[in-house]
Amino acid sequence: MSLRATILGAAAGGGLPQWNCGCENCNLARAGSIPSLSQSSISVSADGVSWAIINASPDIREQLRAAPHLHPTDLRESPIKSVLVTNGDIDHIAGLLTLREQQPFTLFATGEIHAVLAQNPIFDALNPSWVTRQEVALDTPFQLTASMMATLYSVPGKVPLYLERGTVDTELEGEQTVGVHLQADATSAHYIPGCALLRPELAARITGADAVFFDGTLWQNDEMVTAGLSQKTGARMGHMSMSGPEGSMAAFAGVDVKRKIYVHMNNTNPVLRPESAERRIAEAKGWTIAQDGMEIAL
Ligand code: MLT
Ligand code: MN
Ligand code: ZN
Repeated sequence: MSLRATILGAAAGGGLPQWNCGCENCNLARAGSIPSLSQSSISVSADGVSWAIINASPDIREQLRAAPHLHPTDLRESPIKSVLVTNGDIDHIAGLLTLREQQPFTLFATGEIHAVLAQNPIFDALNPSWVTRQEVALDTPFQLTASMMATLYSVPGKVPLYLERGTVDTELEGEQTVGVHLQADATSAHYIPGCALLRPELAARITGADAVFFDGTLWQNDEMVTAGLSQKTGARMGHMSMSGPEGSMAAFAGVDVKRKIYVHMNNTNPVLRPESAERRIAEAKGWTIAQDGMEIAL
């Protein structure tokens, strides 16, 4: 058994193009000059038969339509056996509402994220007769699909935007934002679509993996501010940037991982333009820029 992953959506919340955004990338995507991207999600499997979805994006209906390996195999038989969410952000949970059609699967998340879902009665659309909500303790391996193990661990981040009150700790470590360690036989990968900071313990945890899928939200911390789109920096959103001395490219320079793949990219990120200098820099440093539909076999 070895891990396989398919990028269902490579963009951060909003997607590319984002409905209300007239930035350069969004206009290029609307014109068909660069690929459009749907919102943050991957599917993973070890046997190619039973699959888990990690993060249920608002675009999941179209993502599943475009993914033959996730199509029904019988009248009401789905290869999707489980869904795991890594935080409570809208781009990672809104798609749960689309998965409401009386289909059995297990919904995995930490206790705190399950509490966020439980507080919102709209998610009761996931009937407990069909969907089992399974709380997962941090740092405790569990069976994600028949032939794949997963372990959740905390990464620095913040509560979802819609739960922000008062002063927000953007480097909170707990059950609100997690990374996922996937294991099947000898292969292992880490999925970390949101991360405020790569602390040494996290770098050590990732070392030696076959692949890491990592937070590629912004190229530069103030990129949305300088584009005149928002007052928010990447740091304020709980996302470390790709470039700069504090960025993820620098942080990963000494970390031994076979494949490094950026996911969860905001529509302002210049790496989304295939001909950009920034894209060349990231690729020269060994990073792959995820695209919708990309398959990674480990
Ligand atoms: C994030 O990743 O920062 C959030 O998904 C932002 C959002 O809620 O749109
Ligand atoms: Mn997000
Ligand atoms: Zn835009």
